[in-house]
Amino acid sequence: MEKILAPSILAADFTVLGEQIKEASEGGAPYLHVDVMDGMFVPSISFGMPVMVSARKCTDMFFDVHVMIEKPDRYIETFAECGADGITFHVEADPGNVGEIIRHIHETKSLKGVPLKAGIAIKPGTPISAVMPYAADVDVIMVMTVEPGFGGQKLIPETIDKVRALRAFLDSEGLAVDIEVDGGISSSNIENIVKAGANVVVAGSSVFKGDIKANVSELIGLMR
Ligand code: DX5
Ligand code: ZN
Repeated sequence: MEKILAPSILAADFTVLGEQIKEASEGGAPYLHVDVMDGMFVPSISFGMPVMVSARKCTDMFFDVHVMIEKPDRYIETFAECGADGITFHVEADPGNVGEIIRHIHETKSLKGVPLKAGIAIKPGTPISAVMPYAADVDVIMVMTVEPGFGGQKLIPETIDKVRALRAFLDSEGLAVDIEVDGGISSSNIENIVKAGANVVVAGSSVFKGDIKANVSELIGLMR
């Protein structure tokens, strides 16, 4: 499967966001991870539409929008209009409507004129059985490796076992679905997590400090 690094702008310096996005892109990252938090589903509030619109003006990168919000169905069209290429939502945010929300995402087109990619995410405490019923319907399953809500946390080691078990399940079903991991990933653990079966890796604080371009190329090198 294609291995993809997705730098998270949550850790960027917003006074120079455009330049930092450009550096991440020049380092070879194909995705830009965009964390939207509502202060309800998670305790923190990050940013929303205007930041996405500004970021969209400076790059063609795939916008991997991770919505940590309640009732994510309300904002699918809006995020598409702001430049999302894919939307990943939490199954915990609206457990009764997961299938419907996946369909809604797929029925919505990005600004590039193609259907949005749909992803479902689980928190560290949610078992992979919560996403298994939808595995054939999504493009990506995100296994959170920290509690969602803040950047800069330490990866919870037990979550790596979930990645391994999920990849084994997908393989046994013959499904080539991306497994994305998010939270606490750095040059010290990225090889391990990719070996466990993750092929899309989010990295915030390990990218947006020091030499962004060099950080991105180092992490990509370690994913291979
Ligand atoms: C956490 C966010 C992450 C965060 C990762 O809720 O979903 O995407 O930005 O940041 P790091 O890589 O610093 O843990
Ligand atoms: Zn995220």
